[in-house]
Amino acid sequence: MKAKTDPVNFKEMNFNKLFTQISPEELCDNVFDLVGKVFPVITAGKEDHYNSMTASGGGLGVLFKKPTTWCILQSTRYTLEHIQKERSYTMSYFPDEYKKQVLFLGSKSGRDSEKMKEVGLTRVQTPSGDISFKEATLIFECKLTQITTPGPDDFCTQESKDYIKEMYKDTDEYRRYVFGEITHVWVKKYE
Ligand SMILES: Cc1cc2nc3c(=O)[nH]c(=O)nc-3n(C[C@H](O)[C@H](O)[C@H](O)COP(=O)(O)O)c2cc1C
Repeated sequence: MKAKTDPVNFKEMNFNKLFTQISPEELCDNVFDLVGKVFPVITAGKEDHYNSMTASGGGLGVLFKKPTTWCILQSTRYTLEHIQKERSYTMSYFPDEYKKQVLFLGSKSGRDSEKMKEVGLTRVQTPSGDISFKEATLIFECKLTQITTPGPDDFCTQESKDYIKEMYKDTDEYRRYVFGEITHVWVKKYE
């Protein structure tokens, strides 16, 4: 992900000073980098109560003619509860210098910790009321469109069957495949 240096006073700047909207077609980042190398932080909730988690995998594409993201979440994730309640969420991407914070959000659940206070990122509200962070360089705002829960019988290659069998050997809580229509794409204004 292209590094962008925050000005010293970026924490005092409001959303519109920090970010500008682009269309999904204008995205310059490589999709495989976004889903495979830069871990997105998924955030759902409102200013008074929100929660974030780190994710990996998933994808970006077009579903029913709409630009769409998808991710794979374990059913126990506190963030998933917020997504289901609010029906919207953000996927935020950070430059390398915030890797520690990104990994921290994936290290414990917000259900039984104060990780959102501890993480040291600066919350910001988008014009539509979704939550992200001033340190992010790219934000997708997503409207929840679909949650599907494939079971082991839905996988077709031997490799994927073996992988899923191993993954589910101690649980019958199958992972949720969460699809969200991209309603806005925001990128940092400055280089
Ligand atoms: C690099 C990284 C990638 C992760 N990817 C996923 C993922 O794709 N799906 C998932 O359910 N959990 C994933 N996790 C684990 C969650 O982020 C972690 O369990 C988090 O504490 C959940 O927080 P929550 O319960 O507050 O929502 C990942 C963690 C890390 C560190």
